[in-house]
Amino acid sequence: MLMDFYVLSVFAFLLLGRVLATTRNTSNVDTDVSFDQFYQVTWGYDHVLSLNQGREIQLSMDKSSGSGFGSKQSYGSGFFHMRIKLPDKDSAGVVTAYYLTSNGGEHDELDFEFLGNREGKPITLQTNVFVHGYGNREQRIRLWFDPTADFHNYQILWNQRQIVFYVDDIPIRVFKNNTNVGVAYTSHAMQVQASLWDGDDWATDGGQTKTNWSHAPFVAHFQGFDINGCQTQGPGIDQNCYNSGYWWNAQKYWELDADQQNKYENVRKSYMTYDYCTDKGRYPVPPAECLYNM
Ligand SMILES: *[C@@H]1O[C@H](CO)[C@@H](O)[C@H](O)[C@H]1NC(C)=O
Ligand SMILES: *[C@@H]1O[C@H](CO)[C@@H](O)[C@H](O)[C@H]1NC(C)=O
Ligand SMILES: *[C@@H]1O[C@H](CO)[C@@H](O)[C@H](O)[C@H]1NC(C)=O
Repeated sequence: MLMDFYVLSVFAFLLLGRVLATTRNTSNVDTDVSFDQFYQVTWGYDHVLSLNQGREIQLSMDKSSGSGFGSKQSYGSGFFHMRIKLPDKDSAGVVTAYYLTSNGGEHDELDFEFLGNREGKPITLQTNVFVHGYGNREQRIRLWFDPTADFHNYQILWNQRQIVFYVDDIPIRVFKNNTNVGVAYTSHAMQVQASLWDGDDWATDGGQTKTNWSHAPFVAHFQGFDINGCQTQGPGIDQNCYNSGYWWNAQKYWELDADQQNKYENVRKSYMTYDYCTDKGRYPVPPAECLYNM
């Protein structure tokens, strides 16, 4: 009897832990925060629609314009997220972007770019990392679901140790702080941005497959407008943003745990379609960071 109670309590305890762990990160997203609190429209004002009292934003693009929005503040670290549902049907040439970027020259930038495609063909997710104005670090994956059918959560962890791109809690890309071996690392305050624009000169089949404007307007939907980030003023990063009091700076987030590492390796093995690190034509000698980010 006592034994049963013990087993039951342990079980209840584990279950609670599980529930808490899940709310901690997946629900990392608060879908009840209104857009206006942290974000503002940046361009294509008449192509932006606020839905459900600002809990959802629709960006649209037609021949006259695309559209975009960005955070009001800049950040120096954080665990950023956005729930996105991509344009459906024929979206060839259409790029949906969610990214962090600093202002000014020698800028830092962390990109999710969804490259639209003809109906029935897979949408590619391209990521890129710019450090001190230098990018050219493209990686591309196929997704294991249809990103036009429903909202999915796209996240960027950024602390002093590493940058990790996640799709629904699965790491798809890691860029470590390897300044100790001479690899530059992001060091500017960044704003969060999202946009929908015409990229048909490069996005689909290297620019050969063009936007079919008879399908316009193209629309993408966004949710989850709370921001888990350390606000900072000015172009540099306030030292306070490295403080371990911010949960995303805690040791738990310094590197992937074994389970995440497995998932990450599986994505690289099964879903990656392009990696600049292995593109011998572009980089006969792989860039230094390539050795460290597996
Ligand atoms: C990168 O890591 C070093 C320690 O190796 C640390 O001193 C530095 O502040 C980090 N850089 C950034 C921009 O977080
Ligand atoms: C979220 O929590 C689950 C369960 O604890 C864990 O497996 C997963 O790696 C976590 N994801 C992130 C992004 O921390
Ligand atoms: C563009 O879409 C229209 C309407 O579906 C279709 O009739 C036309 O063939 C498409 N054009 C191209 C180049 O695919």
